[in-house]
Amino acid sequence: MLKGKEIVLGITGGIAAYKQAELTRQLIKQGADVKVVMTENATKFITPLTLQTLSGNPVYTDTFSLTGDCEIEHISLANAADIVVIAPATANIIGKIASGIADDLLSTFIMATKAPVLICPAMNTNMYTNEIVRTNIEKLSSAGYFVMEAGYGELACKTEGSGRLPPVEDILEEVMTILTEKDLAEETILITAGPTREPFDPIRFISNYSSGKMGYSFAIMAERRGADVILISGPTLLPAPSGVKLIQVSTAVEMKNAVMEYLEESTVIIKVAAVADYRPSVLSDSKIKKKDSSFNISLEKNPDIISEVGKVKGNRILVGFAMETDNLLKNAYDKMVSKNMDLIVANDLTRPGAGFQYDTNSVRIIDRSGDVRKLPLMNKKKVADKILDRIKKLCKERKAEIS
Ligand code: CTP
Repeated sequence: MLKGKEIVLGITGGIAAYKQAELTRQLIKQGADVKVVMTENATKFITPLTLQTLSGNPVYTDTFSLTGDCEIEHISLANAADIVVIAPATANIIGKIASGIADDLLSTFIMATKAPVLICPAMNTNMYTNEIVRTNIEKLSSAGYFVMEAGYGELACKTEGSGRLPPVEDILEEVMTILTEKDLAEETILITAGPTREPFDPIRFISNYSSGKMGYSFAIMAERRGADVILISGPTLLPAPSGVKLIQVSTAVEMKNAVMEYLEESTVIIKVAAVADYRPSVLSDSKIKKKDSSFNISLEKNPDIISEVGKVKGNRILVGFAMETDNLLKNAYDKMVSKNMDLIVANDLTRPGAGFQYDTNSVRIIDRSGDVRKLPLMNKKKVADKILDRIKKLCKERKAEIS
């Protein structure tokens, strides 16, 4: 997802410098070209050779060496960068940038670049909460620098508090968000995800295998593309995506109520959740004890949330998923028409690597004209991105029809 992007990773002298080996690896894995700039002190925590080996590029530590075409290095680097990531950013570098001091390669480079700069602070808690450091961080934020919150936990100095380098995966996510075009900035996208749980006593329920991965992938990608995202989720083990309004629900009825509450402000609704079609008719207050005879649960119908949305959606774009094992295309198309959706994503549960628990999916996107687009087996975030491309097109057409 970072193919063709030139990323400059600035490393300063903090213990978390060693974690930049992993960040470099992750950035390269996403297709980025990584150039590392280190301060003198950073080279005492991790060697330039480690980063040179991982990045496959020379590591810059000296202001006075020249590139082949005799441009001063920091200027040529500064012009080529798509983004600059400073991790770890010590109180010292934060103070220098905030005060306009450029006295080594990294600080000079940061002053010279027009690329977005992402600052990832890491330091001792007392330093992180120091009033001067806080003022400097605020100064950087208001000058347009992107500053991440430091993490909370055990620090190298054996104390516990704020000041840990944000996790590598969060830094990676932030880099991708900053570099993604904000082409869905006009949309408010409501997404449902995960399973629902339908209880019949205080400790037991009926549910399904949905992991929530597909719905959460939509939330992450839509947020990256600038949409306001409301994620209504059944129980999952997934972390809350950053920048997303997460509403946690458990049963289909709770999910329906939440969807109806947020429908008004939404322009697009994507119903990925695997909603239980039925719920137990009776919910016992106490644990149902085992008996010698067999045990039956009587079920009653749950609301069909997407059908109810379809009846009142107005100009909103409504996208549903169809989980099928037989007659995939016909069943999916009929579902789309009967529930008044604009687009349906057909999921063939019989295909290897597709469905609930996987990180990949293989889907077909079907529209109201009957056009079917098959996507190859790919990572769920990429699947979500491709479907969001189609949704964006539909939003544009809908806006043109209205005006
Ligand atoms: N859906 C919903 N409310 C339900 C059941 C399903 O909103 N009570 C939504 C799902 O989120 C999905 C779409 O309807 O977007 C299709 O779900 P699916 O389970 O494939 O279809 P059903 O309509 O339940 O039909 P069937 O189970 O008979 O295939």
